[in-house]
Amino acid sequence: MASHARFSFCDLEPDAGSFLEEVLAGLAQPRKTLNPKYFYDERGCELFEAICELPEYYPTRTEMGMLEEHGRDIARLIGEGCALIEYGSGSGRKTRALIADLQPAIYMPIDIAAAQLRSSARRIAGIFPRLDVVAVCADYSRPLTLPQGERLKGRRRVIFFPGSTIGNFTAEEAHEFLQHARRLAGAGGAMVVGVDLKKDPGVLHAAYNDAQGVTAAFNLNLLARINRELGSDFDLAAFRHHAFYDAGAGRIEMHLVSLKDQRVMLNGRAFSFRAGETIHTENSCKYSVAEFQALARGAGLAPEYCWIDPRQLFSIHYLAVAA
Ligand code: AVI
Repeated sequence: MASHARFSFCDLEPDAGSFLEEVLAGLAQPRKTLNPKYFYDERGCELFEAICELPEYYPTRTEMGMLEEHGRDIARLIGEGCALIEYGSGSGRKTRALIADLQPAIYMPIDIAAAQLRSSARRIAGIFPRLDVVAVCADYSRPLTLPQGERLKGRRRVIFFPGSTIGNFTAEEAHEFLQHARRLAGAGGAMVVGVDLKKDPGVLHAAYNDAQGVTAAFNLNLLARINRELGSDFDLAAFRHHAFYDAGAGRIEMHLVSLKDQRVMLNGRAFSFRAGETIHTENSCKYSVAEFQALARGAGLAPEYCWIDPRQLFSIHYLAVAA
């Protein structure tokens, strides 16, 4: 573990071994799938940052505006001196706004993307010199034991999960995830979760099919990453990005469509694709406020407050764990 005064970095090596196994298992299914958590290699992180700036992609700027507007109210509900644990910290832009209002004692960002985690956590340590920053490189979608337990002792644990990343889980996965999060927060803890709302399908379609093709590049980068890191031979020009809103399921689905009959080699195994066959790469579930509150209750979390922006695009939920 690297440590500098109030900044430390703890690598739980989330990728070791599992990437190849998961890709092989996903491509062997009758409906091929890949786990969206693997989008975020260095190039994937850059492309996601670019998505967040797109005119069509409203979630980031909407949530950011809400955190700036309601940060003080959130801080009032939480109280000073908590341990703020962030799942999937990304660039950390949203967190800066929240930390300024909340004044936590400890900030523990947890992310699978090591390089981005290190640089964004270091940046936050530089901006808030009195804050104890403990960056943890780990896969938060799996049950997790936090390192540095002594430093968290006696502190209220508050899990911050912005960006509607919860939407990238299916409802069953989200239920399990919220249960783990509740256990990790512990008695008296809380969660602040950003959740994208159901809305006009046209707005959703545009957000995942941007005119500049950044989302398409983000989706295709998953195949480039698999080629680079696992030595496969995907021909990127032989696949195309496809994203659509399934109103019945209440979610955007992202796929990569094979443009021809083809065969791809990975780790000595051949995977065949028919023309038109897809790899399902991401779900992005959208919730009404009532639907998400029911999901939270089912996982043992009490929905105590919910903020919605004036255009009713996005919601931020404050969920409490009973003391
Ligand atoms: C990270 N996650 C919440 C994004 C989303 O909107 O589901 C990922 C993304 N996929 C395509 N565009 C953005």
